[in-house]
Amino acid sequence: MKLIRTENYAEMSLEAGKIIVDKIRTNPSLTLGLATGSTPKGVYDYLIQDHEENGTTYKQVKSVNLDEYIGLSVEDPNSYHYFMNQTLFKHLDINDNQTHIPNGAASDLEQECLRYEQLIKELGGIDLQLLGIGQNGHIGFNEPGTPFTSTTHIVTLAQNTREANSRFFNSLDEVPTHAITMGIASILKSNEILLLVSGERKAEALYKFVNREISEEFPASALKYHSNVTVIADRDALKYI
Ligand code: GLP
Repeated sequence: MKLIRTENYAEMSLEAGKIIVDKIRTNPSLTLGLATGSTPKGVYDYLIQDHEENGTTYKQVKSVNLDEYIGLSVEDPNSYHYFMNQTLFKHLDINDNQTHIPNGAASDLEQECLRYEQLIKELGGIDLQLLGIGQNGHIGFNEPGTPFTSTTHIVTLAQNTREANSRFFNSLDEVPTHAITMGIASILKSNEILLLVSGERKAEALYKFVNREISEEFPASALKYHSNVTVIADRDALKYI
């Protein structure tokens, strides 16, 4: 595991952005694994700026997102579909039909999980997966206790995850109780993983990630089984390290 220490959120985003652009320029038909939340926003801003200023093209790039809430329509401003369109896709020349996000409004959710896992396979797997981390160590929406063998599946969101994400909703009651997420095994199959960690809010999770033993009670610890993980963290997140 490689650790890149940065001063702040802007520098963390810049470092991650440069790595991603470099990969796309080397392999223009890359399959990117993408994440939502506050953490990757700065990276997405960097990709948009680079696309506008340097013309990096996404015409052949494919993307698969980690997760989606169950029960929100794709137009719902809190859905990850909406987030990805507004925050990234609509600003790039990426093909709509090359971007993939689990469908949390599917009538058969079990079938949707199988479809999504199969889709990742058909795309030839993920070349580079971007990840954030939850305060409880979750990656994607894989909450503590998720088997490391899990593939795309339905999860019941932990109460502290719903509370953490309620900042995007009008009230805690509006935060969905379930989600579809790529599993830990799906994530570990990626060729390369970039884990971004920013802010004091994540300092404890980063400390546990670095120092604790591998355990299903701390989902991010599964990344230690992977041979190509880069963690990019800022000074506040590195407080205890
Ligand atoms: C969310 C997402 C994760 C994300 C994490 C951290 O619940 N499902 O993919 O990495 O929580 O979010 P944030 O970056 O907003 O702190």
